[in-house]
Amino acid sequence: VLVEKQGFRHFMLKEIYEQPGVVRTCLEAYLNPDWEANQESPIKLGLPEHFYQDLEQVQILACGTSWHASLVGKYLLEQLAEVPTMVQYASEFRYAPPPITANTLTIGVTQSGETADTLAALAMEQQRRSGKTSQYQARLLGITNRPESSLAQMVAQIIDTHAGIEIGVAATKTFVAQLMAFYFLALDLAYRRQTLPLERIAEIIAGLRQLPAEVELILESQERYIEELAHEFNETQDFIFLGRGINFPIALEGALKLKEISYIHAEGYPAGEMKHGPIALLDAKVPVVAIAMPGSLYEKVLSNAQEAKARDARLIGVTPKDVPQATEIFDDLLPVPKMEELLSPILTVIPLQLLAYHIAARRGLDVDQPRNLAKSVTVE
Ligand code: G6P
Repeated sequence: VLVEKQGFRHFMLKEIYEQPGVVRTCLEAYLNPDWEANQESPIKLGLPEHFYQDLEQVQILACGTSWHASLVGKYLLEQLAEVPTMVQYASEFRYAPPPITANTLTIGVTQSGETADTLAALAMEQQRRSGKTSQYQARLLGITNRPESSLAQMVAQIIDTHAGIEIGVAATKTFVAQLMAFYFLALDLAYRRQTLPLERIAEIIAGLRQLPAEVELILESQERYIEELAHEFNETQDFIFLGRGINFPIALEGALKLKEISYIHAEGYPAGEMKHGPIALLDAKVPVVAIAMPGSLYEKVLSNAQEAKARDARLIGVTPKDVPQATEIFDDLLPVPKMEELLSPILTVIPLQLLAYHIAARRGLDVDQPRNLAKSVTVE
């Protein structure tokens, strides 16, 4: 398949702009419009029945950006569907697998579908469970945008994230699509396990439906501003990204994007942990990006951000615009539309992608082919 830049300066920017369309396609593919009338699951994933049977645990294996998506997935599976979930780096799981648990769904998440560590970890799981009694048998699910990949051949079922092929080495649209897959899986399980009232499920689905337009709004209203803002970090050597709860993995992802393409050192941290180490790094030369979405942890994140400000850090807030408190605390705002905390990662990651992109592009770096990195890592 020949993929072209269609007027964008880099594939990464083009792929950032494809995200509203990807989210829309996912909603069309997996939402069941008649669920309430037919008393069916709101989500149609087409998974085999035995995947759901007496489900007690989920284990997710992934690398890199897919591992970050998996951390959001854990949050959703535990908080919405009450399934205990662990997330492991595939490269670690391979050499120290946890004891085998019964009735466990194992999910491999990979945009390329070819990552050697992820495939090997899944193969090992399949192998060590074969020959065991039925409740211990492997139930392998893949989450990928590559339905023809080696991953898809290996697992019983995949959720195709419909992101298509991604060319930029730094993952953007495939990440957002993986998040969508986890929203769907968590809602499907929440319905079947009756862990959420139907009205709440309907409310979450209504929120999901707003996401494509909200992502578009961020792209339209923010890109110019972020491009300008990027000029201010010509000398910057370190960045800290803070988030909590469901936005902690987004802080990790924001830091990873920046490292990958701009070669600036960056750390993502859960905001409440800053006082246990990274706060020692802070001074006027280290900007801090804090993700502060109104919700259960809003006040906490703002107070963590204030601690950073007290150390002279330049504070950049990813937060809704019209909240007076936030405007006072932050030096710069990367505003996102108001959205309930649970659904906000799909929005909060967008300005972080743009920030990393524009800082790297401004430095004249090869955004689509950063040094030392590959799109698909097929060796251990
Ligand atoms: C490579 C890519 C990353 C990606 C990671 C895992 O390092 O450069 O962008 O997150 O592999 O890739 P996967 O295809 O398994 O998601």
